[in-house]
Amino acid sequence: MSTRPRVLLTRRWTEEAQQRIVARFDVTLNENDKPMDAAVLAAAVRNYDAICPTVTDSITASILETAGRRVKLIGNFGVGYNHIDVAAAQRLGIRVSNTPDVLTDTTADLAILLMLMATRRAGEGERELRGGKWTGWRPTHLMGLGLQDRTLGLIGYGRIAQATARRAHQGFGMRILYNSRRRVAPEIEAQCNAAYVEAVDQLLADSDVVSLHCPGGSETHHLIDAQRLRRMKSTAVLVNTARGTVVDEAALASALAEGRIAAAGLDVYEKEPVVHPDLLPLENVVLLPHLGSATRETRTAMGMRVAENLEAFFDGKPLRDPVV
Ligand code: DGY
Repeated sequence: MSTRPRVLLTRRWTEEAQQRIVARFDVTLNENDKPMDAAVLAAAVRNYDAICPTVTDSITASILETAGRRVKLIGNFGVGYNHIDVAAAQRLGIRVSNTPDVLTDTTADLAILLMLMATRRAGEGERELRGGKWTGWRPTHLMGLGLQDRTLGLIGYGRIAQATARRAHQGFGMRILYNSRRRVAPEIEAQCNAAYVEAVDQLLADSDVVSLHCPGGSETHHLIDAQRLRRMKSTAVLVNTARGTVVDEAALASALAEGRIAAAGLDVYEKEPVVHPDLLPLENVVLLPHLGSATRETRTAMGMRVAENLEAFFDGKPLRDPVV
């Protein structure tokens, strides 16, 4: 019998990242890449020393409380960890780590992609062309909104928001406003001349593009609801690369359908992979399937970062990225 720690990867990773875990641990891979259900995850709590989940796994208190628990570390593949009951893990003495930094630029790139696609009506144009409905160039065809000198309002001002702000400010000359739980240090604000706005409602009223970068979970659930959407300009665009639960999707679909805001670009959804049916027929929303960190190099770097945390933990060293 192997004396190496037993590790479960709940989804398929890139070959390079899987190889690093396999080299050191007694690993079970998920070859067919199907999501694991609660019963399988509960059994894993009994049978593995470490479980490496992703955003598609709900690691609840009842799963962590499984009798005969063996698991000591939840090495999350991803920076967001709202799918893990971290308080329960802490209570049970189970450590949790995540993968910050390595996906910052990739996710900020995607926020800019959504911003451009939504403001320049790229999805709508592509659908028109592929549908054989393009009748040729004309001065008033699919006119969008330019980003130059517009105001970008960011909700949350962590690493990904700051990287998004840099791209928007230095690339497009956008003015940067932000709201977050804590005001950041003056030198961080100075990088993009970012102005702190204490009230979310004020930020919404003053922004041409609003981009969400706060964590998911109960504190931010439906932070953007029908009332808040009414605070936005009718010409404004909402971008969400954070977590779907931050936005009331039904309220957003109504606001878009009624032209109360101009457009939205979404990468995340309340009940992934299900998308609210009222969003699907709308021309003024760009819908991507949670691609924020989806480049080959970033997904490999995320796996390597999980590996670093596992190696540190089983070597008796401090976790590189401790959540609890
Ligand atoms: C993240 O890292 O949080 C991504 O959204 C995938 O979980």
